[in-house]
Amino acid sequence: MTQTLRIALAGLGTVGAGVIRLLEANGALISARAGRPIAITAVCARDRSKDRGVDLSPFAWEDDMTVLATREDVDVVVELVGGSDGPALALARRTLAAGKGLVTANKAMIAHHGMELAAAAEQAGVPLRFEAAVAGGIPAIKGLAEGAAANSCRGIYGILNGTCNYILSRMEASGADFADMLREAQELGYAEADPAFDIEGTDAAHKLAILAAIGFGTRIDFAAVDAQGITAIRAADIAQAAALGHVIRLVGRADMAEAADGTRKLFQRVAPCLVPHGHPLASVDGPTNAVVVEGDFVGRLLFEGAGAGDGPTASAVVADLIDIARGARLPPFSLPVAALADAGPADPGDRRNRAYLRFVVADRPGVLAQITAAMRDAGVSIESLIQQGQAEEGGEVLVAMVTHEAPERAVAQAMTLLEGSPDIAEPPLVMRLLD
Ligand SMILES: NC(=O)c1ccc[n+]([C@@H]2O[C@H](COP(=O)([O-])OP(=O)(O)OC[C@H]3O[C@@H](n4cnc5c(N)ncnc54)[C@H](OP(=O)(O)O)[C@@H]3O)[C@@H](O)[C@H]2O)c1
Repeated sequence: MTQTLRIALAGLGTVGAGVIRLLEANGALISARAGRPIAITAVCARDRSKDRGVDLSPFAWEDDMTVLATREDVDVVVELVGGSDGPALALARRTLAAGKGLVTANKAMIAHHGMELAAAAEQAGVPLRFEAAVAGGIPAIKGLAEGAAANSCRGIYGILNGTCNYILSRMEASGADFADMLREAQELGYAEADPAFDIEGTDAAHKLAILAAIGFGTRIDFAAVDAQGITAIRAADIAQAAALGHVIRLVGRADMAEAADGTRKLFQRVAPCLVPHGHPLASVDGPTNAVVVEGDFVGRLLFEGAGAGDGPTASAVVADLIDIARGARLPPFSLPVAALADAGPADPGDRRNRAYLRFVVADRPGVLAQITAAMRDAGVSIESLIQQGQAEEGGEVLVAMVTHEAPERAVAQAMTLLEGSPDIAEPPLVMRLLD
């Protein structure tokens, strides 16, 4: 196999330019490992005149990226444009229909359309790979689908969004509030101008849905991910978590839970959690990502590294290309699409955990008694209760507590009992403890 693997790059932004630089810098090593040269033949972006810090003169330029899918001198299209639908999806569909391989870093597209695209790739007998879509440079998909292939997966969890992790670890180090650290993250390029996808948990949910499908052999069910973000977390919560020996991290978790009728359902959640000091996720700071895979025979595997950035993401894209050049033919989700189960979402109500609850309440007598009565009526016992700071006359105070282990259904019931109380100023913050 000495024939060159000819690729087309759609998108020449952070990742696209990174792929060009990586292929240039390590071309000889990559060819040797791939068993044949990997060469870019054509590229496409919106603005041809933009200086991207890379030499584009050796490559053909296309103004319409869907044309890349039908060029005769292209074997694999690398989609680095982004967006769940629109031009990226049109290109992906056309590429697979034309019988060419597809490599993408686009988690949104795979989370929404992964099943359709995997079926199209299968039908065409071509590879579809998306290592860079989950946790940037970390070989999380490879680790799960190949390294842990012999295991029944017990659980997958991790820190899947570098922007949130940067903000939370900076809040911890500086004592500053969320809004200030979001601004800092934006100034440093760790957060987008429109950070909603990151800070509301959607980006991590995309990645979790992809990992869950591979790990549990289920069809992707992005709509069923319970995604919560980090916008409600205050400096006081970080301080309280620290006093309890914990840090706060946005954690994505997926596992299979047994339902009352004995069937196995898929649990998927992204939410801020209290992680105890000493847990491997507690020391994951800054924009770093970490993925934990629990296998029945291998035990706990931890993959940690850069979850974004041009170099790390390009590294994952090119690793996929090397696999394709070598002739690897793994089903995109580890199993053929027809063999993936339609598990349906698990009811989280039966899950038992300790919870951190934080209320913003009016500084009036009887408010604490109201909260503790709701907890008692719902059958949730309180392990520790902290009233933080005295408010101004008629102002608000924060009340935080940690519950003993209780079913989530009971905690939710307590929150329902308190709904509409004129003494509670904003929706309570509920965070589980990762014990
Ligand atoms: N950045 C990361 O660290 C990272 C990490 C993991 C995964 N990803 C994923 O990788 C993908 C690319 O991300 P990125 O950060 O490289 O994005 P980016 O810097 O915004 O680059 C996007 C590129 O797509 C081009 N483009 C957009 N719409 C187009 C259209 N209609 N026709 C042709 N070209 C078009 C843009 O052209 P112009 O340059 O001419 O505007 C640009 O070159 C996304 O799916 C993202 O989620 C990124």
